Amino acid sequence: MNESESRLGRAVDAAVLEILCCPVCRGRLDEEDAALVCEACGRSFDLDGDIPLLLHDDLPGAREKKREIEGWLAKARAEGWYEPDDEIDRMLPWVDPELAGDLWLANAHSFSVMLDRYIAAGMRVLEVGAAKCWAAPHLLARGCSYIGSDTLTDQSIGLGRGAFYGGFSRIQADAEHLPFVDEVFDATFCVATLHHALDLTAMVGEMARVTRPGGVVCALNEGTRGMLASGDSPEQEAEKKLGINEHVHTVWAYFGAFVRAGLRVRRMERAEGWPLVGLARVLEKLPKVGMTAGTLVHLSTGRYAGVSVYSRKPR
Ligand SMILES: C[S@@+](CC[C@H](N)C(=O)[O-])C[C@H]1O[C@@H](n2cnc3c(N)ncnc32)[C@H](O)[C@@H]1O
Ligand SMILES: [Zn+2]
Repeated sequence: MNESESRLGRAVDAAVLEILCCPVCRGRLDEEDAALVCEACGRSFDLDGDIPLLLHDDLPGAREKKREIEGWLAKARAEGWYEPDDEIDRMLPWVDPELAGDLWLANAHSFSVMLDRYIAAGMRVLEVGAAKCWAAPHLLARGCSYIGSDTLTDQSIGLGRGAFYGGFSRIQADAEHLPFVDEVFDATFCVATLHHALDLTAMVGEMARVTRPGGVVCALNEGTRGMLASGDSPEQEAEKKLGINEHVHTVWAYFGAFVRAGLRVRRMERAEGWPLVGLARVLEKLPKVGMTAGTLVHLSTGRYAGVSVYSRKPR
């Protein structure tokens, strides 16, 4: 927020309000009396501090998504990671394995690949499913602007915790119905979020819609299964019981969702960057398409793993 906005008592940054829209009808939003109001349909959206709450009950699947929010809180409390740990949060995603085992290896590898290959100074970046927004300081340090969005706004494990990482905009938003106008981001990405979509095609489609032609759309570390492995992964059972919308897709389902969204997949890779094996190792040697072809073959034949997808929207 700049000085004149705070003098006017505005919570939402003027440049951000300019690119926000109603998640239900895509009408323009105005800030009125500590709420955002849609000029077209009249729906009103509350603010939690400076976080606009744009997960509206009228959106398809809102009930399931609100139930998932409760599920994350219950899981974090039951597993003892609800209270934030400054030392670990400061290291994310490159956490010392002595402190967190191999939990963060896949996020760290795939986020490094995205930063090194696809991010440049000056980009306007949107993260969906950002939770605490640990990615923010790394993007801000590279001269990008950053908006963190998620359905989860909790102070310890959701967007509220983003204040720890500095001053940037945070928006409660359903990534299947993003509250942004078309083609305003240079890069849109998520980490371990796409597999929570009730409608995978809708979420990738929304990430593509808000990204400018020539921009980047990435999904990092998403759960995948081999062609013969069950869609009911035993590892997801406990989370599903808590109301968390867990799914595990084949690599082809992810690939298809990106293609249907009009995106060009530039690279698919095992999320931890571990080497491909067998025929996939041979395919990997092909110029340009090798890594993607190898990953599609390797993860089609295995059981459960994680995959990262890096794509561009054609100009
Ligand atoms: C496994 S967590 C990953 C969080 C964060 N990206 C990270 O790596 O620490 C999945 C996140 O997706 C969010 N999420 C689930 N469904 C969503 C949706 N429809 N729209 C936006 N975020 C969603 C959850 O609230 C949760 O924060
Ligand atoms: Zn509206």
